[in-house]
Amino acid sequence: MNLTLKIWRQKGSNDKGQMVEYNVTDISEHMSFLEMMDVLNEQLVAKDEEPVAFDHDCREGICGMCSMYINGEAHGPDRGITTCQLHMRTFNDGDTITIEPFRANSFPVIKDLVVDRMAFERIQQAGGFISVNTSGNTQDANAIPISKHAADEAMDAATCIGCGACVASCKNSSAMLFVSAKVSQYALLPQGQVEATDRVLNMVKQMDEEGFGNCTNTGACEVECPKGISLENIARMNREYLAASLKG
Ligand code: SF4
Ligand code: FES
Repeated sequence: MNLTLKIWRQKGSNDKGQMVEYNVTDISEHMSFLEMMDVLNEQLVAKDEEPVAFDHDCREGICGMCSMYINGEAHGPDRGITTCQLHMRTFNDGDTITIEPFRANSFPVIKDLVVDRMAFERIQQAGGFISVNTSGNTQDANAIPISKHAADEAMDAATCIGCGACVASCKNSSAMLFVSAKVSQYALLPQGQVEATDRVLNMVKQMDEEGFGNCTNTGACEVECPKGISLENIARMNREYLAASLKG
């Protein structure tokens, strides 16, 4: 396949940035999207030009690093996958593909397609954990009965990889789907109850301080989420937050 790529180039966080057009040739339909980007970068390096900076690590849908906005959609046109799981067979010979970074004020661009998502880390540090005694007398997990339904829902919430597609696809740049997944994975389990009140209050406080917008129930986040995180988690977080506020 031969393709035209329109890619956001930005030298650094203070640079204005612009779309730049490139042509790539001989792309196999069996390549992943990131392999296609590798081919482009090899061509740019061969011409002594600056390669396009983009984030990636696992290249198998686990790490959440490959934050690209492709043809106006976070992680591209397919559903339930990350950019690294997107294959070139999704596109046609002669296509023009537009590639931008995830855009949100709380995710400033570092360079080209790489954005700073440390805001998510700071929200996690505010409460996305449980304190467990690991000094050798930890209770066996099987000793704590958990219903199959609660375990399944907690597991579903825990599949969030922190990629930020929910923020990038939300017209308000809201992080509610991400934060609600992190709150839910503990709220559903007995192990999460000890710190439940502080957790939801602190994580929501940090989310607001990071400048993320509010949720207006559009649902774009759920559609674009590569892990199928449900809006039900936002409803659960709102209930948790209300209960914690009344206790406080
Ligand atoms: S909720 Fe979905 S879109 Fe948002 S960070 Fe988690 S995995 Fe990514
Ligand atoms: S590179 Fe890890 S999820 Fe895409």
